[in-house]
Amino acid sequence: MDLHVDRSGAIPLYQQIAQAIIEQVRLGRLAPGDRLPPTRDLADQLDVTRSTVIAAYQDLEARGRVASHVGKGTFVQGRPAGGASSQTAEDPTPASQAAGHRPVSREELRRLVRMMDRPGLISLASGIPALDTFPVERLRRALDTVLKRQGAAALQYDSPEGYWPLRERIAAYLDRLGAVVHPAEVLITSGTQQGAALVARVLLRQGDVVLLDQPTYAGALDAFEAAGARPVGVPADDEGILPEALDGLARKLRPRLLYLVPACQGPAARQLPADRRRRVLDLARQHGFTVVEDDSFRELRYAGRPEPPLRALDDSDHVIHLGSFSKTLAPGLRVGYVVAGGAWLDDLAEAKQTADLHTSTLIQRAVDVYLDSGDLEAQMRRTREVSGQRREAMMNALRRHLPPEVEWWEPEAGPFLWLRFPPDVTAVAAFVAAVERGVAFGIGAGFAPDRLDRGLARLNFAAHPPAEIETAVARLGEALASLGLGPDQGASSRGDGPAGSRRAGPTVL
Ligand SMILES: Cc1ncc(COP(=O)(O)O)c(C=O)c1O
Repeated sequence: MDLHVDRSGAIPLYQQIAQAIIEQVRLGRLAPGDRLPPTRDLADQLDVTRSTVIAAYQDLEARGRVASHVGKGTFVQGRPAGGASSQTAEDPTPASQAAGHRPVSREELRRLVRMMDRPGLISLASGIPALDTFPVERLRRALDTVLKRQGAAALQYDSPEGYWPLRERIAAYLDRLGAVVHPAEVLITSGTQQGAALVARVLLRQGDVVLLDQPTYAGALDAFEAAGARPVGVPADDEGILPEALDGLARKLRPRLLYLVPACQGPAARQLPADRRRRVLDLARQHGFTVVEDDSFRELRYAGRPEPPLRALDDSDHVIHLGSFSKTLAPGLRVGYVVAGGAWLDDLAEAKQTADLHTSTLIQRAVDVYLDSGDLEAQMRRTREVSGQRREAMMNALRRHLPPEVEWWEPEAGPFLWLRFPPDVTAVAAFVAAVERGVAFGIGAGFAPDRLDRGLARLNFAAHPPAEIETAVARLGEALASLGLGPDQGASSRGDGPAGSRRAGPTVL
């Protein structure tokens, strides 16, 4: 293929390559069904990096000009697909699709994730908390105490609902937050993830619509999809889902569930304000859907007073509340809980029994002994402090290393923050370039109910010491420069502006 690029031009190289391929099709030198050269060969031919060619192919794929098939190659398409093919009358994001955002299939996401398997790569893609804050010694002592005091009983089978004293403690904690919960309404699960999976199994039937905030927690999305449900994102602004949009979707789609992470909504990672919480509950009552409130991030908050959980506002059994010790103690314990009205609890307990009989007897009791020591408050303060310092380190690194076209939101809560690339850079293209330079992030499409690539990237800071964050973000800066971002990749692109000077502005997703 006879292609040329102009290195002195203002147009990014990948766009030049994409344009040149379109020109070849127009001239009839490439026909529908023809295979494009392997990315490595074309990169060698043009003397550019392979990631530049990959970005060009992805750009073409986004425009429907080519289709790639794993293990076979990339082929010229018959005619442009005309934007995202999954657009439906109910799709809540027509503006996004009109803007050219393309869906990223599960298969493609899996292929991209596999690219991360290379030595020295720093992955900011996970949602994991800070390893060095886990209270190892205190948990060891708690385990010791359980085995000394309770002996073999701590190793016996337990009821599917879980260890009663722990259920009492969780009910008391929620009472302090303003929710009136009886311990019999608490079911101990293997983390929030299992809570979401059990709710999916009990409440959902094939084809049911589940509304979700977006981006959302990918594990919940998987659980709902595995139950045969149809996930649909609710349009949101920086304060979280928009009640008017929720009302419209509920009228049209008659959803069975609405799943929310109200302590840390959307890319802005802000909590859902009190008035919207009330509106959401009014709408749940009016339209008859159940709200699944995932409160995993309640205690990992850096700013502002926490709102009471939705469960505290609910007097009509329209909320199922999910919680966990993963973000407050350690995720490897696999202890979480579902709080649901009596009618649901029996069914959920039955589903729990089918899944794994019950959560580990020993670990539930150790968590109970640990909580009895009263150390949890201090532990959470430590975790917030360490994660908060890393959050600062990441925002400083972003200001130093990222080109000015990239924006981010300052998170109020949670272990990660979100970036937005400018419209001509997809998260997939940025990911490929980033991995080549030894850093990875979460691709927004993997967290979006419609799987559209809106140029969003999720970066974990909580799990990484500041020096690692600095290296990772510097690598990301280089990757973005290779895609043509930043005026000259020199000093002028290294913003030293005030904190949050490139904070993302209000958005409706
Ligand atoms: C919003 C949210 N919910 C649930 C989970 C899973 O948590 P657990 O360890 O409690 O299953 C995560 C994990 O990162 C999460 O981000």
